[in-house]
Amino acid sequence: MNEQYLTFDDILIAPDYSDIESRQDISTGQEFLGITLGLPILSANMDFVTGAEMAETMHNLGALGILHRFWPSEETYLTAIENLHQLNISVWISIGIRDIKASLEFIKRVQSRVALYGVCIDVAHGHHAKVAELLESIKGSPTESLSNLKVIAGNVATIEGSVFLCESGADAIKVGIGAGSVCTTRTVAGVGVPQFSAVLECATVKEEYPQMVVIADGGIRCSGDIAKALAAGADVVMVGHMLAGTDEAPGEIVDDEIIYTWSDPNRLKYKRYRGQASFGTNDSHYVKEGIEGLVPYKGPVAPILADIQAGLRSSMSYVGARTLAEFREKAKFIQVSSHTLMENNTRVKER
Ligand code: XMP
Repeated sequence: MNEQYLTFDDILIAPDYSDIESRQDISTGQEFLGITLGLPILSANMDFVTGAEMAETMHNLGALGILHRFWPSEETYLTAIENLHQLNISVWISIGIRDIKASLEFIKRVQSRVALYGVCIDVAHGHHAKVAELLESIKGSPTESLSNLKVIAGNVATIEGSVFLCESGADAIKVGIGAGSVCTTRTVAGVGVPQFSAVLECATVKEEYPQMVVIADGGIRCSGDIAKALAAGADVVMVGHMLAGTDEAPGEIVDDEIIYTWSDPNRLKYKRYRGQASFGTNDSHYVKEGIEGLVPYKGPVAPILADIQAGLRSSMSYVGARTLAEFREKAKFIQVSSHTLMENNTRVKER
């Protein structure tokens, strides 16, 4: 236990020489398993983040949404999938590992109705024998429609976990244990890896598996965190909290009079957001590793993604990078003191 593990606030990207004249010359485009994204952002496969409307909007804005798996019935899940497919959107669904046979059968049922693009094996602890078993059943299947599916597997936060998923046949790995805004894994289980170091370490898997796609998942609060995760080696970044509470997120607006926000009367509207770990199980051997709560209502997704893109372009311009590949190559990090966090933040009340 020699190495110190760091999270986003522990580091900054050092500014470097640039000859970029306009931020318009900077591209935030990214290839993601055969899909060209204008912005390297995935909306989290969580029940109050990505339903059909969010997936459609993300697609229209050049990003990508992965459907969650906690639908009231299989039929509603299938309807959402079909609706997206009818709009010519590449559909990504989530599946669990509790019942591998049921997950495989579900994929087949989806495929009997639409051309499915990819699946996300969605497990809190992806470094698990059952994840490998499911991956092998899909990727090693003699049925081409199964073996050709793109598969994201996760979550992991160590190089061993990353190599394990690569060797089991994953096309992309999802990195992040305990960093999410609604996660209590680190409190409940004392397990996790600070997210910046987790991404940095897991992305080194590309030295041996150059085709592997790395998704930084969880703990993102602002465009600066997204820039740091990408510079650390992530191909794309998954966000939950930043998109929860938007018009396109599932769930109704909660107009709760009891929640008294004296500083901002416009913020009296909320939407629901919650952690997914152990959600939907009645098994008393499982403890919930997430919380449920309200987040301020944020309006449409489009301005949030526009802000992310502007922030990312700014970050890239500070290191003189015109593409994300160049950004990953050029960006250097500096470790900062805890006092720096105070210096980072504004000290004047905005009005
Ligand atoms: P943010 O910070 O964007 O994180 O809200 C979203 C990610 O959090 C993960 N997630 C959980 N982690 N317990 C956990 O430990 C949970 O109940 C839980 N629910 C979601 C997930 O990786 C998601 O993308």
